[in-house]
Amino acid sequence: MDKIKQQRNFMKANFKALQGIQTDQMKQLPQPSLEKPAEEGHKLIELIPIEKIKIKRDTLIENIKNRKSRRNFSNEPLTVEELSFLLWASQGVKEVIKRLDKAYATLRTVPSAGARHAFETYLIIHNVSGLEPGVYRYLPIEHKLIYLYSEKNLKEKIIEATLGQKFTGNCSVVFIWSCVAYRGEWRYHTAAHKAMLLDAGHICQNLYLACEAIDAGTCAIAAYDQEKVDKIIQVDGEEEYTIYLAPVGKY
Ligand SMILES: Cc1cc2nc3c(=O)[nH]c(=O)nc-3n(C[C@H](O)[C@H](O)[C@H](O)COP(=O)(O)O)c2cc1C
Repeated sequence: MDKIKQQRNFMKANFKALQGIQTDQMKQLPQPSLEKPAEEGHKLIELIPIEKIKIKRDTLIENIKNRKSRRNFSNEPLTVEELSFLLWASQGVKEVIKRLDKAYATLRTVPSAGARHAFETYLIIHNVSGLEPGVYRYLPIEHKLIYLYSEKNLKEKIIEATLGQKFTGNCSVVFIWSCVAYRGEWRYHTAAHKAMLLDAGHICQNLYLACEAIDAGTCAIAAYDQEKVDKIIQVDGEEEYTIYLAPVGKY
């Protein structure tokens, strides 16, 4: 029970604990980059800008009404246009704010405490027309995808890494959000972690609503094996680690 009570405290505001603490931002330490830079030598894929995307059901109220967790998907592939829309809706950048001539923050389609946006979006693509199955990452500032790698048994691996949840293999694409913790910590120190988890909820909710707009569905996933998913998206598990997943498909 003591452990449970300790964990409860994590949900509470802890800004008082920051009094007298110099955050790295206050110490004027360099700000971490707003997005993870593209790895050299990897293929970049242009996505479709939101202005050019036609949305099937763009009524907000209907999409809110219809939203539910969907775990059964058809074999119909998503298109690159639909994937572009889902990435924009969940993490799209609307503006890069500059301070002293340097990129200081991004404003996106979702809110984030202090506009820190401490997340990266990885995709396991199983069935998107025109894209090779494999692991990709979204570059939100450029609105592009970077192709990371491919391997034969990705479906089996992600099912195993999500503790046997088969719909992570039977879908078009699995969204995997990682957290680059220092992006929040640089500004908020020990108050960063609660805020970053709250932020993650907004991302997934936007994905749910955007899915409804294109007759697709998703289901949030927090039950997964930390090491196995981190390995699939090739992150170190310390500075950057998986926090949330969401398989998407047509139903
Ligand atoms: C943080 C979070 C974690 C979740 N993790 C899982 C999961 O691992 N597997 C699963 O099948 N559903 C998961 N869900 C979906 C919930 O079970 C679902 O939202 C809930 O049953 C209510 O159903 P609804 O979304 O259709 O309204 C998760 C939802 C949230 C918000």
